[in-house]
Amino acid sequence: MPLPYHERTCYCAEVGEDHVGQTVLITGWVQNRRDHGGMVFIDVRDRTGLVQLKFNPDRDPRSHEIAGRLRAEYCVAVRGEVAARPEGLVNPNLASGAVEIEVHEIDILSESATPPFDIADDTEANEELRLKYRYLDLRRPVLQRSLITRHRIVRAIREHFDREGFIEIETPILTKSTPEGARDYLVPSRVHPGRFYALPQSPQIFKQLLMISGFDKYVQIARCFRDEDLRADRQPEFTQLDMEMSFVQAENVFDVIERCMAHVMKQIHGVDIPRPFPRVAFDRAMNEYGTDAPDTRYDMKLIDVSAAAKKSEFRVFADALAAGGVVRAMRVPGGATMTRKETDRLADDLRGIGAGGLPLVKVAQDDDSRIAFQTGVAKFFTPETTAEIAGATGAGEGDLLFFAAGAPADVCKHLSWLRTVVARKRDLIPKNEWHFLWIVDVPMFEWNADEKRWDSMHHPFTAPRDEDVPLLDSDPGRVLSQGYDLVLNGTELGSGSVRIHRADVQRKIFGLLNITPEQQQLRFGFLLDALRYGPPPHGGIALGLDRIMMLLTGLDSLRDTLSFPKTAKAQDLMTEAPSPVDEKQLRELALKSTAATEATPT
Ligand code: AMO
Repeated sequence: MPLPYHERTCYCAEVGEDHVGQTVLITGWVQNRRDHGGMVFIDVRDRTGLVQLKFNPDRDPRSHEIAGRLRAEYCVAVRGEVAARPEGLVNPNLASGAVEIEVHEIDILSESATPPFDIADDTEANEELRLKYRYLDLRRPVLQRSLITRHRIVRAIREHFDREGFIEIETPILTKSTPEGARDYLVPSRVHPGRFYALPQSPQIFKQLLMISGFDKYVQIARCFRDEDLRADRQPEFTQLDMEMSFVQAENVFDVIERCMAHVMKQIHGVDIPRPFPRVAFDRAMNEYGTDAPDTRYDMKLIDVSAAAKKSEFRVFADALAAGGVVRAMRVPGGATMTRKETDRLADDLRGIGAGGLPLVKVAQDDDSRIAFQTGVAKFFTPETTAEIAGATGAGEGDLLFFAAGAPADVCKHLSWLRTVVARKRDLIPKNEWHFLWIVDVPMFEWNADEKRWDSMHHPFTAPRDEDVPLLDSDPGRVLSQGYDLVLNGTELGSGSVRIHRADVQRKIFGLLNITPEQQQLRFGFLLDALRYGPPPHGGIALGLDRIMMLLTGLDSLRDTLSFPKTAKAQDLMTEAPSPVDEKQLRELALKSTAATEATPT
């Protein structure tokens, strides 16, 4: 009689001391096999962890014989009696480490070919191989934990929004382009040859329309698609926690999201995070951290030392200031121990992102216990300017100061890169701290010098601050928006805004963005139309669920938060998507490929 595998009594890691003396039936995959003087020991794994099986030839010769045939990743069902492990053989690293199962019966449910890599957290396999065999990769405990945590996060989010009276509504996947700044994925229409759907870059317009429909609290765990250059924190398809509310101002959105994150953090990490989250003005973030997604777990703020630098004889500083630029400094606490090799390496990497060099000084004390600069560009500073810079930066003996000079945007880019890299390298980032913050007072537009026009900083539906509306005509560059970003430990988790709910203002903003009235009608006519029918004031936000996952689980790559991710080249190595299609399919869609790799002929 085969074992009734459908009557499993518990998961592997659940087998414990409470079960001693009882018969259990478990199922799973063979992790490894060890033979000890006729006795065979096998670890079996399921999604909860491992349990040890013991095969005694005297007690059950048939099972012992089968055990001899077992190889890694065979799928088995096992019945046996739970016994306490002998003293000294308890494994404290395993949930089931105090016990083992003395096997009475075992069935091989299916055999396995030799897997292309070890199914273990510390596998040596490269990512390409792992992605090709993703279904095996997903057997590794680290990825099992990751996907299970993802489920728990989504459940906590849904619990929160349900409690708060939000309605989860699905919006279309086959739709029209939404302007979130990336390229669209297009889907050709068979029924309307030459026409295309776009996959949504976000549900932005639909959620605004749902506000007009009167669903005043909307939420969706929404799949989004963006054809953009991928990085470690980006995927072509990803998931947003997307929400929108009517009759609100930014503070209402902050409140709901802060409580949501607090609930998630409590559920996942058991920690209470302080609320309200700090609000940091965009300008301040750029000045102090050089980025609009600052990591405030450590200090190392950027300090403007232009006035003092002007008095130095260093040409690079003088030239930058003469060209209207700035000089900023960043203090690395205890950084004087950095070697020449280390700082040269940083300078090389910085050149890679466009910096000219990396001026620095080490901070020491002279014989009179006064601060003195050493090495690097120290020789360009008089004792007075040294004291001025030391005073401004708070530099003390044993520290190191890095400088950057040039246009403010470049200085921000270079020093914020340096700040992150140095803090990581020198282990200056405290562990297990969660610094959430809101970036507010974000400019409405940024100047696109290439195309000589304004671009939205967020998206064209973001409302300007009421008091800045008059500036729309006179000085658009100074208009601040009602947009905001949520940042956690230096990563942007999400952005949102209070929206424009007046058709005339919306048209004006489109106009400022160089979208002609004809284009407005063509692309957003339905929205402009809807805004004629009593639209409520509304606002919302979308958080990247994959990014939340990545940060909360400490994973380095967004890919490991997903079941079947794509590579940086937007490929699925397992299914080999994207792939050529039949000529026939193309014909049906009225399409012809001009690519060198033609469609596969039928
Ligand atoms: P935004 O474009 O800023 O805003 O996106 C919101 C959040 O989605 C995540 N995200 C991504 N995650 C993984 N891969 C990507 N390619 C990717 N692109 C974005 C980020 C980001 O902060 N409709 C607006 C929101 C709103 O205004 O309500 C929007 O989509 O975490």
